[in-house]
Amino acid sequence: MTQVLYLKWRPGTWAEVIGQDHIITTLKNAIRHDRVSHAQLFSGPRGTGKTSTARLLAKAVNCLADDLAERPCNLCAHCKAVNQGQFLDLIEIDAASNTSVDDVRDLREKINFSPNQGRFKVYIIDEVHMLSKPAFNALLKTLEEPPPHAMFVLATTEVHKIPITVISRCQRHDFRRISIPEIVKQLETMASSESIDVEEDVLGLIARQATGSLRDAISILDQLSSAEGQITTDLAHQVLGTSPNQAVLNFVDAILEADAAGGLNTLHESAERGNDPAQFARQVIAYFRNVLLMKMANPDRIDVPSDVFAVIEKHSKVIEIKQLLNLIRIFNEAINDRGGSWQPILPLEMAFLEALETNSDPSSLPAGKPTAEPSKPASPGKQTKPAPRKKTPPRPAETEESPPDTGQQPLMILKEWKEILEIVRDTNPATQGILNSCKPLGIKDNQLVLGFRSDAIKDKMEKGDHLQICQDVIEKVIGVKIPILCIVGSKDQSDLPDGVDPDGLIAAAVRDLGGSYVSDQEEE
Ligand SMILES: Nc1ncnc2c1ncn2[C@@H]1O[C@H](COP(=O)(O)OP(=O)(O)OP(=O)(O)O)[C@@H](O)[C@H]1O
Ligand SMILES: [Mg+2]
Ligand SMILES: [Zn+2]
Repeated sequence: MTQVLYLKWRPGTWAEVIGQDHIITTLKNAIRHDRVSHAQLFSGPRGTGKTSTARLLAKAVNCLADDLAERPCNLCAHCKAVNQGQFLDLIEIDAASNTSVDDVRDLREKINFSPNQGRFKVYIIDEVHMLSKPAFNALLKTLEEPPPHAMFVLATTEVHKIPITVISRCQRHDFRRISIPEIVKQLETMASSESIDVEEDVLGLIARQATGSLRDAISILDQLSSAEGQITTDLAHQVLGTSPNQAVLNFVDAILEADAAGGLNTLHESAERGNDPAQFARQVIAYFRNVLLMKMANPDRIDVPSDVFAVIEKHSKVIEIKQLLNLIRIFNEAINDRGGSWQPILPLEMAFLEALETNSDPSSLPAGKPTAEPSKPASPGKQTKPAPRKKTPPRPAETEESPPDTGQQPLMILKEWKEILEIVRDTNPATQGILNSCKPLGIKDNQLVLGFRSDAIKDKMEKGDHLQICQDVIEKVIGVKIPILCIVGSKDQSDLPDGVDPDGLIAAAVRDLGGSYVSDQEEE
């Protein structure tokens, strides 16, 4: 098996350490003047060279080269032993797996023995912040009176967890994140030396994903290079998960086009395929964040395939910053609002509806509360469809003509449900969005019964004038004014009001009409 790339490329000389010049200069000087402090603390983010530098230091203090400035030489017996992992006086302790005080006591005893081979016994304690309190105390005693032949390098990614008493005994070096150009340059060197065929843009993409950790960057390159042929940006996006999937793009389109039905369908289809709604919401946020970056003239921070980039560019021209911030807030809340929800998709649905609502009425920003007034006049001025066929002209009062009986009424409502939804959408997209989450169940006591999947959506429907809008549209379409009763439940549930027969007319009508009113959740 070939060696893991990042281990193969562990720096063996001072010059090979990238991006930590401030530290390397100090350590080289100390070596040159033979004045290395007995306790060093290396702190900094993961994968930035702490362990590598600790080993370099251990090698340098034990190197046999005559010229101090040449140490480590990588040629003498000691340097070679260190490089092969066979130097007895280099002791590496992983505090993450040795947190008990015994290990440190053990260490204190052993430390009094002289080095086997070299001048110094060097202890590298990795992840030192993981030590228990008693272990720290034992370590502190050792640091207070170190034997002259002992040297400690404590390494940590979480320096704030280390007692100040320990920190004050050490010479401290703060490792910094490796910059993107530095990472790209190193990846270039490695790719050409390892004959890894990689598309130009990929290295930048990897570097940005690595967030300052050179090790992570190398690991990603390693992982990508195991595929056959050239590493393309598409492949990289796939592996890194940086490409939003089509469902997310459709969903965003639905928000911007106020397409309530389309958006909810996309959401449910994605959930049915087993995707985690919270993950979906995260992708939606990531997408809006990219649009935000585009708007703020930061396009080089956007890591997406070029076709998605074009979509982001397009969207950035039609969404206001304020609107974006609001959308990000709404979906962020959906992610956090998972606690009591028995329906994992519910917070996302509600976020979607809220997004539609605020988008349709920008004056409601930034509060983002559902508006009390419909955002557009109740009589739709711009109807995409021709005016609905009316049996009777709408009347302000109860019609005198004999109205269709209740059996006919639900049939008509069901038949026209799609159309009803479309006209509702022209009045207020949010109302349509809510209606998409319900099913017309039947007529009871001269009321149209709408079944909702949850109290939350039912409450939404009952607030503001969603009910009124729905009622008005139904009246326009079928010519009968009919009050609406909202309940939570479906035809399969026992909490249906009396008089709604789960297997009766409604069910039959749905079958005959192809069940087109069922917009969600209903398998088949
Ligand atoms: N500054 C750097 N210069 C050159 N290579 C580096 C540097 N930082 C990390 N690397 C690469 O990453 C690998 C791991 O680095 P190293 O173990 O020194 O990081 P670390 O800071 O100790 O990380 P951790 O905190 O996770 O232990 C090295 O073998 C090397 O390939
Ligand atoms: Mg390390
Ligand atoms: Zn040497």
